[in-house]
Amino acid sequence: MALAAAREITGLAARATALKGRFDIAISGGSTPLETYKILGRPSFTKELDWRSVHLFWGDERCVPPTHQHSNFRAALSALGPPAALPAQNLHCIPAEHGPKKGAALYEETLRGHFGNQGLPSFDLVLLGMGPDGHVASLFPRGPTLNERNKWVVGVEVPAGVEPFVDRVSLSLPVINAAKTVFFLVSGANKALAVQRALGASAENPDFPATLVKPAGELIWFLDQAAASKTQEIARPE
Ligand code: 6PG
Repeated sequence: MALAAAREITGLAARATALKGRFDIAISGGSTPLETYKILGRPSFTKELDWRSVHLFWGDERCVPPTHQHSNFRAALSALGPPAALPAQNLHCIPAEHGPKKGAALYEETLRGHFGNQGLPSFDLVLLGMGPDGHVASLFPRGPTLNERNKWVVGVEVPAGVEPFVDRVSLSLPVINAAKTVFFLVSGANKALAVQRALGASAENPDFPATLVKPAGELIWFLDQAAASKTQEIARPE
């Protein structure tokens, strides 16, 4: 799954760079995508990817310092390398250590500086994981941030029952759905029921935020066999 995702990311990067001279990607936190980041950081891959034109953003971040063990920035960079060809100024980390409210406001400024102010920012690719409760990025079930329609970045208070128990900063749903492509990377038997529910959902349900991810562009799920083990039980609409 990790290799398949890495290959597709590389293909999208090449196409975006050829089309507009850069590749704007918002990467996911959590543990599932780390294997993909390790693969992307391999010399065999870095020669495929023109890292000079890659702009790396994060889909969400925990309100901890970037050196903290719970930092998505730290985890992703240590998995990725990062490649020498990736310019430091192309690393757009979320300054979540300033807290959810200020961190979100600062990151929105970063996005406006990069994408401009004419309408929602459209990432070439947004990578997402999914929790067993269907949360994506730091948008948790029945959370107030699910209703945000104007802000590009939201501050999220400590989610109940989802470690680590820290405040978060997250891209808002409108920004995720403005992406040209969204990849879900989900692995493990503990996600099988959530995958079945997400893929089988016939309507958007704020109790299960993954059902609210309806990008303007492509939505592609990368699953390992364990996470996909209940998909054959999904009733297909007639
Ligand atoms: C985070 C992620 C979060 C993650 C899911 C799945 O900051 O933790 O953005 O949304 O993708 O919780 O996490 P795992 O991949 O570790 O199962």
